[in-house]
Amino acid sequence: MRELNLYPLWVRRDASVAAEHEAAPVVAAREVPVAESLPVAPVVVAPAARTEQAAVATDWPALKQQVRDCAACKLRAGCTQTVFGVGDENADWLFVGEGPGADEDAQGEPFVGQAGKLLDNMLAAIKLKRGANVYIANIVKCRPPDNRNPEPDEIATCLPYLQQQIALIKPKLIVALGKTAATSLLGRDATLGSLRGTVHEYRGVPLIVTYHPAYLLRSPAEKAKAWQDLCFAVQRMNP
Ligand code: URA
Repeated sequence: MRELNLYPLWVRRDASVAAEHEAAPVVAAREVPVAESLPVAPVVVAPAARTEQAAVATDWPALKQQVRDCAACKLRAGCTQTVFGVGDENADWLFVGEGPGADEDAQGEPFVGQAGKLLDNMLAAIKLKRGANVYIANIVKCRPPDNRNPEPDEIATCLPYLQQQIALIKPKLIVALGKTAATSLLGRDATLGSLRGTVHEYRGVPLIVTYHPAYLLRSPAEKAKAWQDLCFAVQRMNP
């Protein structure tokens, strides 16, 4: 909670009063449209690639192996290893980031660096935990050089893997972290601000959009909005 600037934490003294209000939403959905957007270049979403590539594997072991062996785009040559995803393979919650950074590239797990620590704290703030009813994955499985944004052809080549992960997990809610994740999944360019506060859909799965933790580390004042988004997500999950 402290990481989201939600401090001090006020705890209701009278438990019976708390129980009465348990069913009430934590925070109402955002009423005021927010016009802000992330300071990143617009993502141009490429049409589906992979026309002459092998079909994507349909079970977990084969999919993991396929990603491990993948060299379908130029990212693989510049990274240490592929970063498949981590967590509960039957999770209700799926958090999707952009792509591995240096720490993730070294460890083979998404969101293990500073942004990952903040993500773990964001999860804790809504009583979730990496690996327990939560799965974490990225749009691209290989680290883009110098932490640049993944390019449209790289996204299009890699996206079928995430699509298959989603088909296997069958999450109840996808939380897209940042503009690249959101626009890649939604298949259209838009500002992050315009995508927040709405329940979108990805292949039949509800999807909400919030800020990328790395952006929140650079712009801590925006954490309050991320907290609104998380509450919106909780509300969507437990109406
Ligand atoms: N940023 C991302 O988008 N994904 C990671 O795994 C780490 C940092």
